[in-house]
Amino acid sequence: MENLVRLVDYEDIFLKRCIWVNGPVIVGAGPSGLATAACLKQQGVPFMVLERAECIASLWQKRTYDRLKLHLPKQFCQLPNLPFPQDFPEYPTKKQFIDYLESYARHFQINPQFNECVRCARYDETSGLWRVKTVSTCGSMKNQFEYICRWLVVATGENAECVMPEIEGLGEFKGDVIHACEYKSGERFKGKKVLVVGCGNSGMELSLDLCNHNASPSIVVRSSVHVLPKEVFGKSTFELAVLMLQWLPLWVVDKILLVLAWLVLGNIERFGFKRPLEGPLLLKNTKGKTPVLDIGTLEKIRSGDIKVVPAIKRFTNGCVELVNGEKQDIDAVVLATGYRSNVPSWLQEGEFFSKNGFPKCPFPNGWKGNAGLYAVGFTKRGLSGASFDAIKIAQDIGHVWKHETKQKKHCTTTCHKRCISQF
Ligand SMILES: Cc1cc2nc3c(=O)[nH]c(=O)nc-3n(C[C@H](O)[C@H](O)[C@H](O)COP(=O)(O)OP(=O)(O)OC[C@H]3O[C@@H](n4cnc5c(N)ncnc54)[C@H](O)[C@@H]3O)c2cc1C
Ligand SMILES: NC(=O)c1ccc[n+]([C@@H]2O[C@H](COP(=O)([O-])OP(=O)(O)OC[C@H]3O[C@@H](n4cnc5c(N)ncnc54)[C@H](OP(=O)(O)O)[C@@H]3O)[C@@H](O)[C@H]2O)c1
Repeated sequence: MENLVRLVDYEDIFLKRCIWVNGPVIVGAGPSGLATAACLKQQGVPFMVLERAECIASLWQKRTYDRLKLHLPKQFCQLPNLPFPQDFPEYPTKKQFIDYLESYARHFQINPQFNECVRCARYDETSGLWRVKTVSTCGSMKNQFEYICRWLVVATGENAECVMPEIEGLGEFKGDVIHACEYKSGERFKGKKVLVVGCGNSGMELSLDLCNHNASPSIVVRSSVHVLPKEVFGKSTFELAVLMLQWLPLWVVDKILLVLAWLVLGNIERFGFKRPLEGPLLLKNTKGKTPVLDIGTLEKIRSGDIKVVPAIKRFTNGCVELVNGEKQDIDAVVLATGYRSNVPSWLQEGEFFSKNGFPKCPFPNGWKGNAGLYAVGFTKRGLSGASFDAIKIAQDIGHVWKHETKQKKHCTTTCHKRCISQF
């Protein structure tokens, strides 16, 4: 009897269903997916949003640190058709941004299917439809669904998975090793020597947070990086750049930004930061490398509270060996080594997306592929790039939808397909 019970273990029970979606399927309920859904609502197009987590904006709710604030002024971060509340500060906090996204989803009545991870999506040439397979991510029941739709919107983000570097000896390191996406606050590292690997915005901000919680951080800077002040003479550097770009060519704006950075921050090379040969905006446009906007980390480096170290050679017995031969005792490692797209792991398509999970065509042309495939939020331009894509996609689908529904009104045949989508 006991064996019989084991045979029908819940782990083995699958519920398989096939669902026709009347309208596009949007994969991902982050800011990009929500923005697209809201714009489709305005076009009168029904849709279905599939999200692997149990909440909207899971990157912001679950994989970001407590002290995080938007580092661009709020007007560059709000989503289409619903501005931030007027009382929000110039740089909203993570909590304010999440509250805004929650109210955005409520306002446009966007109700994603949570706990459904898309495992595979492919275009079926015969039917001219997309087949999107999901597996449920909650409970012991591994339910599987197949959604069939005409349009597929990829909104899984540039930061879907953490980049975990392979460094000799790291696997055997006995202290705490976490990725930046698990870091909440420096509280747990109080009094500890922490090696922060990576000097993007995450690495720089986490080093500052560690310092503010009385830890002793060292930050690994293995290559060149542009560090710019977040503000110049009280005005956002990003906003200044956007203004200047209306009148001046990009290379001139880059030169001005570097002069301003030098005036505000001084020569950062003496702290161990090498500037890239290309200017900050050119580098962002060509290689997608975001400049660091300094929020106080350089001051702590100048005072010696944060140490800058070169690339890592290996980890041995609780210590790190650097490429310059120096050895340091450390208690913990925070890998601020960035993120990557997960699109190649589930989208069976090779024309529109490249192997790195980004559309092959750069901004502003990377939002539309063939056969009803779209991408939102892969512009390397943060939230403003996502809003741009979302508006374009909804207009494009809306145009076809309106044309076809007008024609259908004259058609008397009834549709017997099972239709599940949100409207
Ligand atoms: C620490 C940090 C701070 C940032 N700060 C800023 C900022 O100040 N300003 C700015 O413009 N940008 C910022 N960014 C960039 C950030 O990527 C965007 O702001 C924004 O989150 C992008 O939205 P998205 O919807 O494209 O991606 P995400 O927010 O990553 O949302 C994608 C969603 O897709 C879901 N998903 C992924 N794979 C699947 C799957 N297979 N099936 C189902 N669902 C799936 C995920 O769970 C997630 O909810 C920051 C990024 C990080 C990491
Ligand atoms: N306040 C904010 O708004 C805020 C805060 C944090 C992050 N963000 C955004 O979030 C996105 C991700 O930022 P991020 O800082 O997490 O990632 P990132 O910009 O991709 O930076 C990753 C860093 O890790 C380094 N790195 C990778 N592997 C390494 C290794 N093996 N050894 C040493 N260094 C290594 C990289 O160096 P190389 O350059 O040499 O590869 C780079 O410095 C960006 O768009 C960023 O702007 C925003």
